[in-house]
Order: sequence, then structure tokens, then C-alpha cells
Amino acid sequence: MDHFQHRSGVLFAEDVPLPLIAEEVGTPVYVYSRATLVRHARVFRDALSELKQPHIAFAVKANPNLAVLRVLANEGYGADVVSGGELTRALKAGMKPKDIVFSGVGKTHAELQQGLEEGIGQFNIESEEEGYELAAIARRFGKRAACALRVNPDVDARTHEKISTGKRENKFGVPLDRAAAIYTALAKEDGLDMRGIAVHIGSQLADLEPLETAFGKVGTLIEELRAGGCTVTHADLGGGLGVPYKAGEELPAPAEYGAMVARVTKDWNVQLMFEPGRVIAGNAGVLLTRVIRVKRGIERPFLVVDAAMNDLARPAMYGAWHDFEAVEPTGEKTIAHIVGPICETGDTFAMDREIDVLGAGDLAVFRTAGAYGATMASSYNSRGFVAEVLVDGDKYAVVADRIAAGAIMDAERVPEWLVD
Ligand code: LLP
Repeated sequence: MDHFQHRSGVLFAEDVPLPLIAEEVGTPVYVYSRATLVRHARVFRDALSELKQPHIAFAVKANPNLAVLRVLANEGYGADVVSGGELTRALKAGMKPKDIVFSGVGKTHAELQQGLEEGIGQFNIESEEEGYELAAIARRFGKRAACALRVNPDVDARTHEKISTGKRENKFGVPLDRAAAIYTALAKEDGLDMRGIAVHIGSQLADLEPLETAFGKVGTLIEELRAGGCTVTHADLGGGLGVPYKAGEELPAPAEYGAMVARVTKDWNVQLMFEPGRVIAGNAGVLLTRVIRVKRGIERPFLVVDAAMNDLARPAMYGAWHDFEAVEPTGEKTIAHIVGPICETGDTFAMDREIDVLGAGDLAVFRTAGAYGATMASSYNSRGFVAEVLVDGDKYAVVADRIAAGAIMDAERVPEWLVD
């Protein structure tokens, strides 16, 4: 459930009419709903209520906006970060260092050091090489880094191949058959406190079965490690729960996920950790856009909107579907192609889509844009970076300014020797 609803024919974010935001902030603009974020954060937490003190770390990559992170910090969420930049954001947003987990296959020396200096709660190590590097840094600092070893369970998550992470050919984690040997070796390092196993097999999962298979493999590994004399006190089950992108689409509810986790992990005797991203933020945001013009096509009209693939990359990158809806629908429908202004055919949001009839100047939204939306924006075609707004009841704030193409250009220079 989200808080973007029509009232007397106008789409509102909570109690704020979207035309007001378009007027005052301009378009395109991402609009997030605080009430929706809070609701999703609580639904997910409640779904895990059968577990003993689960640790929930929001996957910052899904939506790193400081205000969004602050809403989740206020809900007691920690952060799953994958770069020094995300770590800095999580801390700045008020997340406690001990509630931060550092994931990622390519943490640099400087990032490992930053994590140690900040005293983060856990490193999810993705290779033995990374483990030894972290151990050496920790020794130098006279610290012990709490670590989980991320395993690659070789399970097909049955999602888009670009966001599937748990198959043996994917770059993530260590192969399951080498995991016990690597864990045992790293546990001998003074600088490391090897305390758990981490797994994350992919994103936008429409089916719980691959997750259950992967978690089952983690359970077997934990038994094997303990039988071999290793200590295992934590298991990080990652994120991945999918969300509906099309009205009426059915996906596993957080409660079903929680029940499955409780069943599979009941004898593990560990503290469980989670890294949800999309399920918290996805339906808490829309991308508000204005129609530039309707161009006559051969079979269908092209609805040219002022948002483009640089603002919302998912349709171009993954062929992803985002529901598209008029802010002030007349009830009349048509079939059209929805495209942005960027000079490549990839800048297409939808082909042959049944949509509300719209004309130049009208407003519309792409729904389910709160996760992997603004964070994946670029300035391609020198379009500048899209603005972000957070609504809370009847008030709203601009939580990320639009960065104009000119400001990006300010960071560039032409060396003197090129100018004659
Ligand atoms: N933990 C790890 C280690 C991850 O790699 C990810 C996502 C998550 C947690 C959060 O997964 P979620 O709960 O959001 O599914 N840009 C793509 C999604 C990439 C996801 C990458 N990893 C998209 O727009 O669909």
C-alpha cells in the first residue's frame, strides 16, 4: 500500500497535490512519501517478528538520499553500504556505526580502512583475498573487524540476469564448496572476528523458492563450520524481495517471506540480519514528469515526456516496466509509445502502452520509482541531475536540488595548452 492516491481527480502524494510540486520545483522530479517509507519499514519489521532481534540494514544503493535514510534511521534501521560514499551518507543520515554492514566485491584498501576507523558493525567479505587485506589493516590499527563471509550458493534467483547475483558464474561471494576452508583460514587471523555467513542471490525476486534453497545451503554450511570447530553467531540473508511494478501484480508478501525465514532458520541459533532495499523504497516514490509534446507516429503517437533514461534508467537498462499514470486523468484512454528526449532509441519507457489521454503540458508519473531511480541517474545528453522531494502529510521539502548542466560543467576545464 502506498500514499499516492487520486482525490477529486488529482493525484496526491499524501496530502500534497502533485501539480503543486511540479509548479514549485519543476519537472522531472522524484517525489517520495514519508508515510509510505515508514509503513514499509514497519511491515517488513513486523514480518520478522517471530525472529529473535533481527538486524535490518536498508540497502542504501536502492535510495541513498539523506532524508530517506533519516526516515529509516528514525525507524531503527541500520544500513547496508557498498562504497565509502554510501558509508559516509549512512553516518551523516544518523545511522549508528554498529548498525552498518559493508558489502561489495570491490572494497578498496581505503574503504576497508574507512570502515574500520568508523567502527562499523560488520564487513561482508566477498573473497579470501579481501579477508587477508582487511586482517592486515585491522592488525595495523590494533582492531578486530567483525566479519561475515559471503557465499555464492549457485542458485538461480529467476530474475533479470543483470540483477541476479547468486549463480556460480556471478562475481559475488565465494563458492560454497570452498567456503568452509576459507572461513576456517580467515578465523585464524588476529585482525578478524569471523562471526557469520552472508548470502544475497539477486533482486526483484518474484518467488521465495530460490531464496529458501539458498538459505537451506547456508544452514548446512553453518552446521559444517560448527562441526569443524568454528564459531558462527550471525547470518546475513541479504535483500531481494520483489515489489509489484504493475497494478494488480502479486508478489510474495513480506509476511510470507518472514514465515519462510523463520521456518528455515529455526535451529540456526544465530542473530539474523537483512538487507532490504526495493521492498522498502520502491513504491514509496514516483517520478513526476510533464509531457513536452505528442508527436504523430506511424501507427501510434509518441508521447514525449521531459523525464528520460538519464533520470530513470531501469526501462532502458533492464527493459523494466513502470506503471505510467496521468496526474489529472480524464478517463479517456489511448495507446501510445512513451519516450524521453534523449538521442537514442533506448530512451523509451514503453511501447504500445494503454495510457490516459494526455497533451502537451500535462503531468504524469512513473510509479514504483523510489528504489533504483534517482540513484541511477546520470547527466547524459548534458541534462543535469533530477531533483528529489520528500512529502510528509501536507508539507514537502526539496531533499535534493536539481543540479543544472551548467553546474556539472563547472567541474570541467579546458587546459591552457588547448587554447591558442
Ligand atoms: N544486499 C546486497 C548485497 C545487494 O547487492 C542488494 C542489491 C541488496 C542487498 C538489496 O536488494 P533489494 O532488496 O533491493 O532487492 N539496479 C537494479 C537493482 C540492483 C540490485 C543490486 N543489489 C534495478 O534497478 O533493478
